[in-house]
Amino acid sequence: MAPCGEMMQQPTTFPRLSPEDQKRLDDLYAMVEREADFFIGYPCNAFFDYAPLYRFLSHPINNVGDPYVPSNYHLNTHLFEREVLEIFQKLTHIPEDQAWGYVSCGGTEGNMYGIFLGRELYPDGLVYYSEDTHYSVNKILRCLHVRNIMIKSQPDGRMDLEDLRETINIHRDVPPIIFANVGTTMKGAIDDLAGIRQILDDLAIHRHYIHADAALSGMILPFVDDPPPWDFRAGLDSMSISGHKLIGAPIPCGVVLAKRAHVDRIARSIEYVGTMDTTILGSRNAIAPLFLWYAFRTIGLEGYRERVRYCFDVADYAIERLRAVGRTVWRHAHSNTVVMNRPSDEVVGRWQLAVQGPIAHLITMPHVVRSQIDRLVDDIVKYG
Ligand SMILES: Cc1ncc(COP(=O)(O)O)c(C=O)c1O
Repeated sequence: MAPCGEMMQQPTTFPRLSPEDQKRLDDLYAMVEREADFFIGYPCNAFFDYAPLYRFLSHPINNVGDPYVPSNYHLNTHLFEREVLEIFQKLTHIPEDQAWGYVSCGGTEGNMYGIFLGRELYPDGLVYYSEDTHYSVNKILRCLHVRNIMIKSQPDGRMDLEDLRETINIHRDVPPIIFANVGTTMKGAIDDLAGIRQILDDLAIHRHYIHADAALSGMILPFVDDPPPWDFRAGLDSMSISGHKLIGAPIPCGVVLAKRAHVDRIARSIEYVGTMDTTILGSRNAIAPLFLWYAFRTIGLEGYRERVRYCFDVADYAIERLRAVGRTVWRHAHSNTVVMNRPSDEVVGRWQLAVQGPIAHLITMPHVVRSQIDRLVDDIVKYG
């Protein structure tokens, strides 16, 4: 400690790691590089290069607060965040004058936001979600303490609308908050949004809220021909899309989109940061919007259309090769999630396949190449 009265000087150097710690870090990196070669089971795209953005990591940039409102914290990337949101708003057809959103830290936060808005709008609301919904939603419902009912799924992963109709009918006095899947985690299934709207109309339920979880498919469906209804034109109130999935980012991130009128109901002004508190988190990742912005500016929408086509081609290649060795394997028409009967634990472990009971999936993200599929098939033939 400096003697009393003596001024402390600012440190001028950055301490370095001990040789032992440096070695541990190098070993960790080697492991990540090794395992990346077997990374075909999860919907994260590993094909990207954001080197020109690394310099932003030299500053404590932070997107605290609402991206549309100026704040006292000037080291932010709100301008670029708004540009990213504008692209997503166009892709998901939310009318410009009704649109609001922010870059979140992933699909889970976006889903929490959607359910939060629904509950704030309808405090007595009841959330309906299908059996095939991502596991995090159950936890979100517990955190938010909202009443909820799980609806049966069909074998292909879509919500069973007969069960939904009967269940809503029993609870007609309570506004439904529908949590719809636009691409389920295990099977890539898209809930029938037109059918859901029809049920609400048939039962004359006018007070309702619909959130769509489009974690992966929200960046696939804008680029396919004749998608089923999936965006704001289908009557959504909010939607969540992951950024590190099809777009690809080294840090988990996502986008949440919502109708501005709903968000106005929850906004609070905060003097400390001189902005509006409309997001779930306070401090927010400011480099993630740059990753997304950079991806859109360099790859472009046509580039993404090609990438989606590539993903489907590799998915079809996987299906053909796996069928040829006797596997039951399929995918939904607008999904790159390839579902198969569960292989041996050796294969699941080596290829980091996601499993659930008797099924497993691989997901042909843009980094997956045909030679990896060939090696997977060889391993399945060898180990089962
Ligand atoms: C359908 C679906 N929703 C939500 C999530 C969670 O998203 P994140 O990992 O971005 O939080 C996932 C993750 O795989 C998912 O598949």
